[in-house]
Amino acid sequence: MHYHEFETSFEVRLQAHTDAYPNAAEYHRARYNQTIQYLLSSILEQTDTLIQQSETTWAHTEEIVSDILYCGEITIEQLFALEIPNQLTADRDFEAVKTKLYETKYYPISEHLNYLAFPPALERKAFIRKHLNRFKEKSRFCDLGFGPGVLTAFILQQNASWQADGVDVSKHCLHHAQRLLRKKEVLEKSELSVGDVRNLPYPDDTFDVVIAIEVLEHIPDPEAGLSEAMRVLKSGGYAITALPVQLPLTMHLYDFDTPDEVLALYKKVGLEVIDFETKEFQRQAGAFVDTFALSIKP
Ligand SMILES: C[S@@+](CC[C@H](N)C(=O)[O-])C[C@H]1O[C@@H](n2cnc3c(N)ncnc32)[C@H](O)[C@@H]1O
Repeated sequence: MHYHEFETSFEVRLQAHTDAYPNAAEYHRARYNQTIQYLLSSILEQTDTLIQQSETTWAHTEEIVSDILYCGEITIEQLFALEIPNQLTADRDFEAVKTKLYETKYYPISEHLNYLAFPPALERKAFIRKHLNRFKEKSRFCDLGFGPGVLTAFILQQNASWQADGVDVSKHCLHHAQRLLRKKEVLEKSELSVGDVRNLPYPDDTFDVVIAIEVLEHIPDPEAGLSEAMRVLKSGGYAITALPVQLPLTMHLYDFDTPDEVLALYKKVGLEVIDFETKEFQRQAGAFVDTFALSIKP
């Protein structure tokens, strides 16, 4: 209902009573006006507050939306008409999730939208930012499960001497991420491909840094993926990882129950954890904890 329709129907109801109760009708009209004034001013106030937060500024929102339109090759009308399926598959099978989710054109767009204002995505980016000073000149890093490429592009933009490799199981993510890197003018410093974190196309001891942000829980055996990441990481190299705890989404094929279980996995594959953060986030379906880690391969 539009605002003027609402106002008209309120007035019609009032009129029905003005003859019998002229004073009461006047009283309700005045209350109505006050209430509307109050609601409108509080909406404006909330908008002002929202727009002052760094992740929801006009400029930030404009940049992300225009990146998505470019990478997804869609119009703004198509973006808002996109229907993102939430019922994937109940069997939690990798090939089923791949076909029904990763291999759909909207998938990288939905992951990219997280960077508009989804707090965990912004925290992951903040955690990486906190540790960028560990990257030395000419660092070669590998982004495992790069998704829309937001983090790959972000890191590459910080230092012209850095180089990125990476794999993602989704060809749509590859297309989307490469367009993003081109838009950010860092494509030539990257070598991304379609691939599986469990079987990486790189020799042992290749990278100074491996990044695995919210990817290992997407495979049934996170240890297998992390061991493969360890294989391609140089001794003395860093791993930056993020894993959720108690977030049993259908696309998550392994559920971590506690942050300690995550820490135990890092230890098991031989990583030495230097910095480990946990943060609780609220969802409609209940709270979950995200964990962020910087580790070193001895
Ligand atoms: C939640 S997204 C995270 C994307 C990105 N790391 C980020 O934080 O923005 C998970 C990504 O992992 C990819 N993925 C899932 N299973 C994979 C596998 N076995 N090998 C490589 N990538 C995989 C998905 O296609 C998806 O892009």
